[in-house]
Amino acid sequence: MPALKQSAVVGVIGAGAMGAGIAQVAAQAGHQVKLYDNREGVAQSAIDLMTKQMAKLVERKKFTSEQVQQTLARLHVADSLNDLADTGLVVEAIVENIDIKKSIFDTLELVCAADCILASNTSSISITRLAAGMKHPERMVGMHFFNPAPIMKLVEVVSGLATDSNVATCLYETALNWGKKPVYAASTPGFIVNRVARPFYAESFRLRQEQVADCATLDALLRGAGGFRMGAFELTDMIGHDVNYAVTCSVFDAYYGDFRFQPSLIQKDLVDAGYLGRKTGQGFYSYQEGAEKPEA
Ligand code: NAI
Repeated sequence: MPALKQSAVVGVIGAGAMGAGIAQVAAQAGHQVKLYDNREGVAQSAIDLMTKQMAKLVERKKFTSEQVQQTLARLHVADSLNDLADTGLVVEAIVENIDIKKSIFDTLELVCAADCILASNTSSISITRLAAGMKHPERMVGMHFFNPAPIMKLVEVVSGLATDSNVATCLYETALNWGKKPVYAASTPGFIVNRVARPFYAESFRLRQEQVADCATLDALLRGAGGFRMGAFELTDMIGHDVNYAVTCSVFDAYYGDFRFQPSLIQKDLVDAGYLGRKTGQGFYSYQEGAEKPEA
């Protein structure tokens, strides 16, 4: 099955870190994009932020101002899920919670055309389970971007048991057209990247919990000696601890409590305190004005 036509409208649900980035990627690729968030004003704020960020890209000569204007003109706020009726692809990027995600897909099945592809950006939830009970489970697929979506090339195209291979092929080809490097993955807990990344986070958190060294030292070591682009503490601060912790819990549960995937108590503390990382100004590091920042 060929890639999604450029004339197809793309719906994105959730205008947080990932949804906003995915909307930008689709708009840059030439699609009209409808962005929906159930918190009033959030989708518009995400577009306003994109406008500022893209102006900086023009200054740095990564894009022309004409390209940016055209991209921004393709981004629209959807006031409700009903506004997504004319879409050819919807990518859901809301909170990592299966019940809430499933209720969104139930509504989309009523609203969207039967051939509209329904994709989830979930980091860890089973595509098979998301599709279960749908009228057309064959069009349900994972389209898993990485943070920040406009920059990171990798996209996991995830098939559940019922996913039509033509649908997966279409998303793979679409991701290629969007300038990404897609890979196919079967729907197992955490798929590929989030599964191999769990021990990276877990062992780093254990080192910290045992007070072997502070976060900055461990991050510097992982970057300098380990060759990782970011250490576990600065990376999870960027991802958001609510999101990262939910993913770990989901993978841990899905593997029947396998110790290798056990969630970290120090990360749970951050979540309980509302210290979610960069987005709240405090995580393992402080991002308040004047605070010493971790090295990028
Ligand atoms: P976020 O917390 O930044 O944004 C989620 C957005 O969804 C919020 O703006 C919220 O208002 C909205 N939302 C929640 N429930 C909704 C509903 N019922 N209807 C409409 N909007 C709703 O979360 P983030 O980081 O963007 O993650 C979203 C999804 O992407 C999750 O499934 C996560 O696992 C996945 N993901 C996250 C990555 C990351 O690094 N943060 C990387 C790759 C995937």
